Order: sequence, then C-alpha cells, then structure tokens
Amino acid sequence: MVVNMKEMLMKAKNEHYAVAHFNINNLEWTRFILEACEENRSPVILGVSEGAIKYMGGYSVVSSIVYSLVKELEIKVPVALHLDHGSSVLSCKKAIDAGFTSVMIDGSKYSLEENVLMTKEVVSYAHPKNVTVEAEIGAIGGEEDGVANEVLYATVEDAVALSKTEIDFLAPALGSVHGLYKREPNLNFERMKQICEITNLPLVLHGGTGIPDEQIKMAIHCGICKLNINTELQIAWTNAVRTFLGANSEVYDPRKVIKSGEDAMKEAIKKKLELLGSIGKA
Ligand code: 13P
Repeated sequence: MVVNMKEMLMKAKNEHYAVAHFNINNLEWTRFILEACEENRSPVILGVSEGAIKYMGGYSVVSSIVYSLVKELEIKVPVALHLDHGSSVLSCKKAIDAGFTSVMIDGSKYSLEENVLMTKEVVSYAHPKNVTVEAEIGAIGGEEDGVANEVLYATVEDAVALSKTEIDFLAPALGSVHGLYKREPNLNFERMKQICEITNLPLVLHGGTGIPDEQIKMAIHCGICKLNINTELQIAWTNAVRTFLGANSEVYDPRKVIKSGEDAMKEAIKKKLELLGSIGKA
C-alpha cells in the first residue's frame, strides 16, 4: 500500500516509536527493503535523492519501480515514496507529478525568508494532491551525493518560523551528519525536545548512520518520528558483495552479484526496525 507519511508518522508520534526512511538506489534494493519490512510488519519510507533519481533514469522510473514492486510482491504494510532533499520547487513538483506521496523541500542553504517562501510554494502544490511535505532548517553536516555541508544547529525561532508554512514534518539540523561521523555525534536533545513541544510536528533526524543506539532512543524520546538511513545499508550491502566476489571469482552473472548483498542488507534493516520500535506497527 503506497501512502503519504501523515498517518504513519502521527501514529509513530502518538505511540513513541520512529519509522525508518531507507534510501533506495535501484530496483533490487527497493525489493530487499520492501520484503524485509513486510516480513517485520513495519511501515517504511523509501527515500530517493535527486542523485539516485538521475541514476535510476528519472522520477517516473522510480515511481513505476516502487508501485509495481508493491503490487507484484503484494506488500501490505504502509510504504511512502519520498523525495529526499528536494533542492528546488521544480524538483518537488516533478516528484509529485510522477506519483511520489511525500517530498522534502530542502531550502536550508537559503535565507530563512527564502526557505519559508519556497516551502510554502511546495506545500500549496502538494497538499491538494494529498502529498505530505518535510522541510529542513539549520544544516545537516557531512556529504551526500556530492553535496557537502558544515553542521549548523537550527534555532528554535527559525524552526517555529518554518513550521508556520503548514509543513507536515520538520527536520531541524541539531548536530547530525550525512555519511560516517568523524567523532561521536553531538546532538542537541534539549533543543530537539523544545522544538517538538513548540511546533507539535513529527520531527525527522537525518544522518542516521553511526549515531549510537542510545542516542537514537533518546532522539525518539525527544520527538523524532522518522530516522533517515542511507550509508549504513550501503556499507552492509557492499561488504557482503565484496566478500562474495572475493570467494567466488568465477561468478559474472550480475543477478548473483547484486543478490549476494541481500541477506546482509535485510539483517541490517531488521536491526534498525527493532531499534526504532516499528516492528509490528503496520
Ligand atoms: P546517512 O547516510 O548518514 O545514513 O544519512 C542518510 C540521510 O540522512 C538521508 O537523507
């Protein structure tokens, strides 16, 4: 069932767990993630970056893959198809027109005024089409798809200003980074809690890879309802494929190569779902 993120994140907020956002890169990853979440009766968000969309062949290709797999595999758990870090209003509109059920408009690199303006424009296009909107304030550190940033902690005032655009979810940058952490993450839980209480929105935590389990639990306690995970699955899959190829140098069938990372990926997914508390919540 492909749905927007509204109901799944409101339920998570009310019942104090978080839903995993896993980034997808191709058809096989999409299938592995869907199967793992169906098996664990967990709702799931399939996040797609603009880089991954380009890699896979375009917005409508991604959409066709997701809708077709959900149908053919008879996936019953709620699945959201979400644009990750939409960099422009146009990108969000393209995703919505292609059937994405949720979009993130990331105006965090612009001034607050510009961020608010572009976010409002996306909300007014998305909501009549039943598409949910996530927006970002502050700056998530690290690098994703070649885009690098320094960490910039969101302020409560800016978070409140952005929340007034009628967005459905807010991603306040509070110390997390995309990719691997160079040192122990330094998340501002106090501010996370404050932003959650004042805005009353389900909050999103980006840069889920490498945050210690205890800190993830604390973040959920402070209002995080969606955790974005990308690098961790990339590492799990690539390590397994590397080992497989090292031990099976005669293999050249790409299906065997890609599939050799399936079990490791599904294991990593299950561990994350357990940690987030979303197993059995579908
Ligand atoms: P990681 O790559 O650190 O898991 O972050 C993923 C993310 O936040 C995608 O938006």
